[in-house]
Amino acid sequence: MRYFGADYNPEQWPEAVWAQDVALMRAARVNLVSVGVFAWSRLEPAEGEYRFDWLDRVLDRLHAAGIGVALATPTASPPPWFTAAHPDGLAVTDQGVALTHGSRDSYCISAPAYRRASERIAAALGERYAEHPALVLWHIHNEYGTGCFCEHAATAFRAWLARRYGTLEALNEAWTGSFWSQEYHDWAHVRPPRATQYLPNPTQALDWRRFLSDELRAHYVAQRDVLRRYAPTIPATTNFAFGAWVPVNGWQWAGEVDLIAIDCYPDAPGRRGAEQVAFAADLARSLAAAGSTGKPRPWLLMEQAANVVYTPGRMLARAPGELARHTLSHIARGSIGAMHFQWRAAPGGAELWHAAMLPAAGPDCRAFRETVDTGTLVARLSELDGPVSAPVAIVWDPEAWWAMRAPGLPSSDVDYHDEVSRVHAALYRAGITADFARPGADLSGYPLVVVPALYLLAEAGAAALTAYVHRGGTLVVGYFSALVDRDLRRPPDRLCGLDDLLGLRIEEFRPMPPGETAGLSDGSTVSVWRETVHLAGAVAEVTYTDDGGPAVTRNGRAWYLSGRLDPVALQRLLTRIAAGTGIVATAPDGVELIERGDWLVAINHSDRPAGVPASGVDRLTGDTATGTVALAPGGYAVIRRTRPG
Ligand code: GAL
Repeated sequence: MRYFGADYNPEQWPEAVWAQDVALMRAARVNLVSVGVFAWSRLEPAEGEYRFDWLDRVLDRLHAAGIGVALATPTASPPPWFTAAHPDGLAVTDQGVALTHGSRDSYCISAPAYRRASERIAAALGERYAEHPALVLWHIHNEYGTGCFCEHAATAFRAWLARRYGTLEALNEAWTGSFWSQEYHDWAHVRPPRATQYLPNPTQALDWRRFLSDELRAHYVAQRDVLRRYAPTIPATTNFAFGAWVPVNGWQWAGEVDLIAIDCYPDAPGRRGAEQVAFAADLARSLAAAGSTGKPRPWLLMEQAANVVYTPGRMLARAPGELARHTLSHIARGSIGAMHFQWRAAPGGAELWHAAMLPAAGPDCRAFRETVDTGTLVARLSELDGPVSAPVAIVWDPEAWWAMRAPGLPSSDVDYHDEVSRVHAALYRAGITADFARPGADLSGYPLVVVPALYLLAEAGAAALTAYVHRGGTLVVGYFSALVDRDLRRPPDRLCGLDDLLGLRIEEFRPMPPGETAGLSDGSTVSVWRETVHLAGAVAEVTYTDDGGPAVTRNGRAWYLSGRLDPVALQRLLTRIAAGTGIVATAPDGVELIERGDWLVAINHSDRPAGVPASGVDRLTGDTATGTVALAPGGYAVIRRTRPG
């Protein structure tokens, strides 16, 4: 079975509306809803005083209609009584501003009162609903990521640092305290990275991000363990925010959740939006595999927007068919369903204008008809199964990302997410599906591994890449990689920690001003970044036309890109390198291809008809294709392939 549904927040409407909700959910084939995500003030209007009668009725009604429930713990939004009683449980910004109640995520994750209140409400829900027949999943909290810089946080940060470093000497060494008089001689003087006069200490800032991810995880684990006591067989998870905001280290969380759940809100329409969907889905699948010892954990798209694409500053209506195409892409890439935020358009409040499965215009509108069509599509994908075939791994690391957020780097135009997205998109456009891998992972199953802009690379990560190449793997390393270790310190005698493996020495970085390009010997161009590189065993495959220096190099199976290639050239180069490892790229322009077990899913994101080579039966139309599958503009096919012979 595939899940199809949404956050369902019925506390926003009079009870009379609930019957219509459920009837329309059934019409749309909704079979799972997340309930109670932000309902704390309704569930516990005063400390220790619980009101579950309304939630009982919601769950009973959903169950009677055959709709399962992902029951949330509402801790992402503490109620007013909590913050009134515990002002020290509210967040303080890095500027020292104590925030007031009036939004969600108003808490300090390290405040003892908040921790206690969170566990209490989780226990109350566990006790009440563990046996409820509608219960399918615990949905703990919502999009963990909120930090605080108060004294509770400072105390917890110090304890975390003491566990990491043991002594102040080790901390001073890691933080390069010798620079700008930052050597600590008393733990009490160590503080969170609050606002500073000038450039902050980058390692302190990075350790803070690591600490925050661990601290948030501890809050999750405490609730999960409470719920497990009441309902040991019900899986538990939390929804990871994903986009340009990655507040927790998913690699370290993956083993703590029973399934990986992600929220995905592309911020561009059209092909770019489809690429963002594929990126998020591939990352979710990779986290699910990383968190498992045997069979990969499942993963679920927990939130997408039903009828809007949020671009900076404006909410664009989704193009016709786009919701179905995005949904199909997620499921083809492994999701066990497609969920949305939220079921019914809000009557008021901060997200009044947010999209919903059931829009403000009611059921008689295009967007709702598309929701119903998408529900039908999802129901028909139940057989689509088997491992997603992904011959390439992209090494991806939130720590490297956080480290690159520091000011004072050589070029603020080199953005980690952007660099990784460019590589993922180049492979995607060629029809090559990629997994993501954490640094240090065993990469031996992949013919090709790409490492874009991995600024921070610890020893274990470098050793894993070296072992991978020595065992016959093909590696492509991009500029701005392996420049610093886990403490953000440079190797003493070189710029790049992988230069022996790559057979070169980097003499100098040459960041480029906006608008400037440099030509290459193969007719392509670089912009934003280039370097002066000397060969030390590698050969130059492509050179800069102005000074003849190496631009793209190869040392056996280890490639290096010293500049930012234009997108077409990047796709051409990666396709060529992939072909050398036996990976065949066959996607026509604008067509997304995913192979999964016996299945081939083809999605045409272009406005032209397209053809894809395949033979088999289309699960959606029943048509048999021999040799070529025809795709209408915006169309898609889910083919169970006929194996030759
Ligand atoms: C998500 C969040 C939802 C809702 C949505 C709006 O990040 O989990 O609660 O706020 O964004 O796009």
